[in-house]
Amino acid sequence: MEFSIKSGSPEKQRSACVVIGVFETRKLTLAGEMIDRVSEGYLSDILRRGDMEGKSDSTLLLHNVPNTLCDRVLLVGLGKERDFRENEYRKAIKIAIKTLNETGSLEAVIYLTELGVKKRDITWHIEQATIVAMEAVYRFDKLKSKQDEVRRPLRKLTLSVERRNEIAEAESAVISGQAIAHGMNLAKDLGNLPGNICTPTYLAEQAQGLGKTYGMEVEVFDTSDIEKLGMHSFLSVAKGSRQPPKLIVLHHQGGPKKAAPVVLVGKGITFDAGGISLKPAGEMDEMKYDMCGAASVLGAFKAIAQMQLPLNVIGIIPTCENLPDGDANKPGDIVTSMSGQTIEILNTDAEGRLILCDALTYAERFEPQAVVDIATLTGACVIALGHHASGLFSNNDPLARELMHAADAAYDRAWHMPLWADYQEQLKSNFADMGNIGGRAGGSITAACFLSRFAKKFDWAHLDIAGTAWKSGAEKGATGRPVPLLTHFLMKRAKD
Ligand code: BES
Ligand code: MN
Ligand code: ZN
Repeated sequence: MEFSIKSGSPEKQRSACVVIGVFETRKLTLAGEMIDRVSEGYLSDILRRGDMEGKSDSTLLLHNVPNTLCDRVLLVGLGKERDFRENEYRKAIKIAIKTLNETGSLEAVIYLTELGVKKRDITWHIEQATIVAMEAVYRFDKLKSKQDEVRRPLRKLTLSVERRNEIAEAESAVISGQAIAHGMNLAKDLGNLPGNICTPTYLAEQAQGLGKTYGMEVEVFDTSDIEKLGMHSFLSVAKGSRQPPKLIVLHHQGGPKKAAPVVLVGKGITFDAGGISLKPAGEMDEMKYDMCGAASVLGAFKAIAQMQLPLNVIGIIPTCENLPDGDANKPGDIVTSMSGQTIEILNTDAEGRLILCDALTYAERFEPQAVVDIATLTGACVIALGHHASGLFSNNDPLARELMHAADAAYDRAWHMPLWADYQEQLKSNFADMGNIGGRAGGSITAACFLSRFAKKFDWAHLDIAGTAWKSGAEKGATGRPVPLLTHFLMKRAKD
């Protein structure tokens, strides 16, 4: 989809469709009033007759509105004005785009971006509109034998701003919004692909493809390289599968050569059956999403490459499958991690931390300014926070605050969870330096505690995205989160 920014009155737009907001009950927005005035009350007449009340999720498409230059006017319900917040704004954009996509307009001018959500600036409104619009037209149907055809798809969207001096700011928000949306689309595609297609080898090829497109160095290490590095914890998970593991390392060199990089580490389990501690059959298909941490790293790299972000960023992706097999990890097995610390594997289904711990140790060699790992790590995090917020853990409060700010700016929300020493005790093992599980109480916290033991040498944060990376049910699919959060975090680091 093509985007542009414009300022100017709605009745003067030569467009296939002008999109206008209506608050409950029947209150036109400023742009709506302007059209109403030139059309001599055409809109308020319709509202008075009750054809449109402004309820959120409602729309009304009008043709030939008098004295306007556009073919159509689309009214979009915004709900109650005093309840109009971020979610309502996003919902209004989404339903507008869906409606435009299903009706005849190939292009449209949207007058919703001027509706000030409290405490949000032009950049936020335009960036969100861009992202939501691209999300609304996202489809994943390439594995169906027949693609659903969109009769007259929306090709071009013009977002309006109130004043001419806002155009430059809005235009740069479109650019960051598009970069983020492209990153999200990549993360969604990879997440939605099934385990028999999206294997560790496939992920490595995708990373290399990204490297080729954007001139990024990408290294892919195979089993023997991983062995030489001493990543026996990672390898212990991989050996229960016939798909060879890969360690993918991406280099975005946007800053001065010697400047310390930010490192992103993504969990890349392309299918998690649980191993010998086998998961129950119900919804096990969703464990194809267990590589969404890795996908969000690749998505963020796509976004920052497109923006040519002036910052050094390293991506580290350990990727393999977790399956039951004659050679798979067994409960009670003890492995030695790359750090030298030994781990008693009490549950083979707590495999994410076993591959991430070695990737974190590998991050040490880059002498990073910060390390953030992203993982669909625990069902417990879904119990704690549901599907709205990612769990945020950190060994450094300023870093946690920075990520919380990024989450807010991107409207890709996270919640700061405790990582107190008290929880560490739950990881005690009688036979090794630690166990890989800490019992049911505070499961997402003890998982983070486990990782923290491999992150002592740098400022580190961990995002548990088990509840946010995908949706279940009728709308089953990857969400592309937390690409917006990560991209905003990196944008801010690049700026300061
Ligand atoms: N990939 C899962 C976490 C997960 C579960 C994400 C459900 C989304 C939905 C992870 O590898 C796992 O199996 N974790 C276990 C840990 C437990 C054995 C300590 C879990 O959460 O049940
Ligand atoms: Mn698991
Ligand atoms: Zn897993």
